[in-house]
Amino acid sequence: MNTVAVVGIQWGDEGKGKIVDLLAADADVVVRFQGGNNAAHTLVVDGEKFILRLIPAGALHDGKVCVIGNGTVIDPLALVQEIDNLQRRGRLRDDSLLRLSYDAHMVMPYHRAIDQAREAKLGGHAIGTTGFGIGPAYEDKMARVGLRFDDLVNFASFTEKLERNIREKNLYLRVLLKSRPIDAREIAEQMRKLRRRLLRFLCDTPAFLSQAIADGKRVLFEGAHGVMLDIDHGTYPYVTSSNCGASAVFGGAGIASRDLGGVLGIGKAYTTRVGGGPFPTEIKSRLAESLRTEGDEFGSATGRPRRIGWFDAVLARHAIRLNGMWGLALTKLDVLTGIDPLRICTAYEIRGKRYQEIPPERHLLERVKPVYEELPGWTENIVTARALDQLPANARHYLERVSALCNVRLAMVGVGAARDATIVLQNPFES
Ligand code: GDP
Ligand code: IMO
Ligand code: MG
Repeated sequence: MNTVAVVGIQWGDEGKGKIVDLLAADADVVVRFQGGNNAAHTLVVDGEKFILRLIPAGALHDGKVCVIGNGTVIDPLALVQEIDNLQRRGRLRDDSLLRLSYDAHMVMPYHRAIDQAREAKLGGHAIGTTGFGIGPAYEDKMARVGLRFDDLVNFASFTEKLERNIREKNLYLRVLLKSRPIDAREIAEQMRKLRRRLLRFLCDTPAFLSQAIADGKRVLFEGAHGVMLDIDHGTYPYVTSSNCGASAVFGGAGIASRDLGGVLGIGKAYTTRVGGGPFPTEIKSRLAESLRTEGDEFGSATGRPRRIGWFDAVLARHAIRLNGMWGLALTKLDVLTGIDPLRICTAYEIRGKRYQEIPPERHLLERVKPVYEELPGWTENIVTARALDQLPANARHYLERVSALCNVRLAMVGVGAARDATIVLQNPFES
């Protein structure tokens, strides 16, 4: 396959960034196609830690082209800060390595203000958003009042649209959300300063990508979040505001469906979630605390502790089926070392009835009693394993059960945070 999409199968933070960084070595172009800086992808390369929010995880390899597609929502200030940060650290050395779609939408300070004020108002019913304005920015896109990077080309018309938007947003902020209004002139001035820095990255990214694909270049599409956070297929309303599956590649990067070779799902060997919403396999005992510490499960975007649960094969099957996944990379197997017994959720029970799939009445997810299969654990350190036969038999057995219960080929296994701490069983670019 020359073109591969990487998609999270749980509620995000599955380790997509690490796997994309690893596969980027074999790719020419790496593309973000949805989401914004609500994503946070952590990479550990040669002992150095990088957190990427907007720039694709190809940026840590020399000479790879990084594309930010039209389906994303981008906070311009956050983008410039991320570029500067990477360049200070000797990465993304050449500006021409980053291509930003004219059609990507901008996240403006009023989006952040609305996001945060709404969440505060919701109190105990809050979604637990990152507060970065992602939902309100996508709302404006769909309402056809969003500002795109294309609007920066003609700054006079940009300012006019900005002022029109802010008049309406301020009314909403002041009257309904009882929140502070936004100063249009301040934002216009900030954007005027950023504009020249941003214009040089603008590109007709769909045309660039179709040419790259036609030329036989290898293109890697980096999903953000995860299928359970998908606006259509996730645990609505406790989701993000974009489609997070492979189908979003076509709209969000502007390529034809025949141009996507396959989809690699990324799942953690257990499950985590940040923010509110149902979580059938959530662990409430002290084991959650030790897994959180062992797996360093604190949100890289907001620092919030992640909720922890067992691997849920029902959710995984849902994500794998929806995306027609070619294979699965299972990360963080090393974090399960020392836990005995281990559990995998194989089905749900709701009011005495057994479900192999997520119930069609989604509200029932709140009442699920997971059906668990127990598996024996292992105590050996597995961080240096680079082949399956270097893993203890019980770890291999765990992987076999995940693969069988999800009915998917296991393509990779993560055994540590570092780039090379991975068992590669099958590289999608070589399949
Ligand atoms: P993403 O949002 O899907 O890219 O995932 P995050 O980067 O938010 O969270 C995954 C975390 O786990 C990061 O801190 C990674 O460095 C780390 N990580 C990824 N794979 C592994 C693994 O196999 N083992 C361990 N111990 N850590 C991993
Ligand atoms: P990566 O790409 C984990 C969650 C938020 C919240 C919900 C809505 O790093 O896997 P939003 O700010 O998007 O409106 O918040 O979605 N969320 C994530 N959780 N990883 C992510 O991204 C997430 N992106 C959004 O915590 O529950
Ligand atoms: Mg993350």
